[in-house]
Amino acid sequence: MSDKKATLGLEGKEAIDLPIYSGTLGPDVVDVGALTAQGLFTYDPGFVSTASCESKITFIDGGKGILLHAGYPIDQLAEKSDFLEVCWLLWNGELPAEEEKEAFVQRVTKHTMVHDQMNNFFQGFRRDAHPMAIMCGVVGALSAFYHDSLDITNEKARDISAVRLIAKMPTLAAMAYKYSIGEPFVYPRNELGYAENFLHMMFSTPCEDYKVSPTLAKAMDTIFLLHADHEQNASTSTVRLAGSTGSNPFGCISAGITALWGPSHGGANEAVLDMLAEIGDVSRIDEFVAKAKDKNDPFRLMGFGHRVYKNFDPRAKVMKEKADEVLGELGLTNDPLLAIAKRLEQIALEDEYFIEKKLYPNVDFYSGIILKAMGIPTSMFTVIFAVGRTPGWIAHWNEMISNPYKIGRPRQLYTGPTQRDFPSSEDQG
Ligand code: CMC
Repeated sequence: MSDKKATLGLEGKEAIDLPIYSGTLGPDVVDVGALTAQGLFTYDPGFVSTASCESKITFIDGGKGILLHAGYPIDQLAEKSDFLEVCWLLWNGELPAEEEKEAFVQRVTKHTMVHDQMNNFFQGFRRDAHPMAIMCGVVGALSAFYHDSLDITNEKARDISAVRLIAKMPTLAAMAYKYSIGEPFVYPRNELGYAENFLHMMFSTPCEDYKVSPTLAKAMDTIFLLHADHEQNASTSTVRLAGSTGSNPFGCISAGITALWGPSHGGANEAVLDMLAEIGDVSRIDEFVAKAKDKNDPFRLMGFGHRVYKNFDPRAKVMKEKADEVLGELGLTNDPLLAIAKRLEQIALEDEYFIEKKLYPNVDFYSGIILKAMGIPTSMFTVIFAVGRTPGWIAHWNEMISNPYKIGRPRQLYTGPTQRDFPSSEDQG
């Protein structure tokens, strides 16, 4: 399997040979499995140096700003493909033939409606509930509706669950929004495209149809596409970990949604807009930049920096172009928050602190701006990220389940008290 090895010298013990494996791209990995027999674990908080699995789906080179899905660069996919085609690519490893794509789009379209009983779930939430809180609940609740497809060892069941998830996510997302503003749910319209349908369910009302602009529909599709997968990020790893116990796909995706919600991950696009609103005026930018640089201040500039991209985020490049297109179409180039965003972007690209720490505007910086311009409330931003990331979560879950896998069970470096006896009543005085 491997002819390369690393030799680890251990004080007082015999050196151990650890096999090294090479992928098709990216760093080699050292198989540390043999350490356990020597009474040793590896220590890697935040998994910054740990490959948790083997995968064929997505490759990232953070240093060079490369993101490939099944080998195809993200900028080419954004230009020449669309979200559902990328979804197929992530699930199948190849682009679909024309008839395959048509049949797939048809299939997804036929599953966009949710069970009518689902409405009752929504009624149980407070109107001011965060839509991500609602999504965690209702996506997990899908498992209560589809008993027929919960056998994860059955390939057909996995396939139908995957299609149901991808089809129903926008419907559930739009329902979460409508519920929060007290408007009736809008049913999907099957003659509309995926992103178009989402905007229709978000903004139509029974008394007025919403005419979806092709530029905005395309921008929304691109936002979904750019978020479709990002290899072993926190939410995808969560989905894999939850799935490794044999749990059902709806529950696993709900776990992924929870992980995505945090401001260090998917919640950043919402946090960007909150931050821009807090800054409030271009004249206060320097004050916030100083806070971001201050080691004693926990404040960070949201939408800047990335765990893996230390040069530039290739998705941010595409998103920036889309932002210009959308703002142009909507005539919003003079919006005060956008002026703050533009100035911050400029500072990050020129300021020594940001350059030295390789903190560039990330995908969420620009997606937040586009979504705001489209009239989407900030609380929905992370929900939209979740809709976009669903194909990636499913692809990774399916890849794991279709191959031999182990339950995920990390180890620890224990630093608590050593064993001691429970005090007797006399000791307690
Ligand atoms: N503003 C100011 N300083 C920062 C920022 C920031 N946004 N991000 C990192 N730093 C500093 C940090 O203080 C540290 O400084 P020092 O070396 O002096 O201690 C250094 O840069 C490295 O930071 P880190 O936390 O060790 O870096 P990381 O790779 O673990 O964190 C990150 C990556 C994305 C969590 C972080 O950059 C961050 O919190 N960014 C803001 C939140 C954000 O925009 N998240 C969305 C990421 S893109 C969407 C996604 O894929 O989920």
